[in-house]
Amino acid sequence: DSIEKGGYEHFMLKEIFEQPRSIMDSMRGRLEMNAGHLNMGGFRAYEQKFVNAQRIIIVACGTSWHAGLVAEYLLEDLARIPVEVEYASEFRYRNPIITERDIVIAISQSGETADTLAAIELAKSKGATIFGICNVVGSSIARATDAGAYTHAGPEIGVASTKAFTAQVTVLTLLAMLMGQKRGTITDTKLRELMVELDTIPAKVEQALKLDDEIRNIAAVFCDVPNFLYLGRGYNFPVALEGALKLKEISYIHAEGYPAAEMKHGPIALIDENMPVVVIATRDSSYEKVVSNIQEVKARKGRIIAVVTEGDDVIPGMAEFVIEVPYTSEALMPLVSVIPLQLLSYHIAVMRGCNVDQPRNLAKSVTVE
Ligand code: G6P
Repeated sequence: DSIEKGGYEHFMLKEIFEQPRSIMDSMRGRLEMNAGHLNMGGFRAYEQKFVNAQRIIIVACGTSWHAGLVAEYLLEDLARIPVEVEYASEFRYRNPIITERDIVIAISQSGETADTLAAIELAKSKGATIFGICNVVGSSIARATDAGAYTHAGPEIGVASTKAFTAQVTVLTLLAMLMGQKRGTITDTKLRELMVELDTIPAKVEQALKLDDEIRNIAAVFCDVPNFLYLGRGYNFPVALEGALKLKEISYIHAEGYPAAEMKHGPIALIDENMPVVVIATRDSSYEKVVSNIQEVKARKGRIIAVVTEGDDVIPGMAEFVIEVPYTSEALMPLVSVIPLQLLSYHIAVMRGCNVDQPRNLAKSVTVE
């Protein structure tokens, strides 16, 4: 057991620390920096379908659904195609409108989630093309799809998904870039910039992992609280959802993720001097607006833990704790900004004496309804 954990106390921690490597594995053979191009076998086979598609529907559950939300931003931004992100369990029972010009992307770490599989079968029966993004090779979902791309994150043992999430987002980023290129919706210069930046992500994730000790100290301050709020905007909104999910899954602390601007329509009522609020406030097009949201939290005495871009000199004056991550372009930031949130939930759960790798009532894959 301890050998399998590679010297780490838990599989989850091992898997968090594997991410520079697993992200690289997800890009291998796909991001060809020397040749200056992108490759994806499963995409090539269905290139014309992707070019002519009128809509993309993403179906998934849990953390994979959060990866789907990131993909909505990526695909709309880069490939200018309408995207809907669906909980597989809702989609399958809703009598959804699906046509032959829709592409359904099913995202699943295990490839065995019953609801996702059923959503695929439904979409197939309506003539849509199904593209799978799975981690487990030869899994039921991988076999049920028309084409797809494996994430190559390696086996994930911890029930709370970490490296599978970043691998999914990596593959979805590559897919959005390829689609943008083939549909002519991104310039060569922009594509090249993104490729260069994506290539630096494993090193930036490595740098973010160095925050481990610092985050353990923050965890010690908050490990006994009953509630947590997570806020983000744009590409960091799904990251807020994922941070909250990680915390509730393994520490049993009630946590909610929210788009920062929606706070005023409800969650703001919860904020007082006892409420920790994690705000993802990295340098991007919504930065100024997130800073205003931080001010709103501060005015109500909320305890702010901010994830910021290295060198930020505004937020440290406002937040109780600041976690600095390296800069990357907006579209790639989820791959970096999620890292401190994974570590925060891990350390809090350990301090609360929880069974981190096998949280109560949860299963690694849910093969029944
Ligand atoms: C379970 C797991 C989650 C996972 C979800 C979807 O709830 O505990 O970690 O995100 O299923 O699983 P999938 O294998 O389809 O990604």
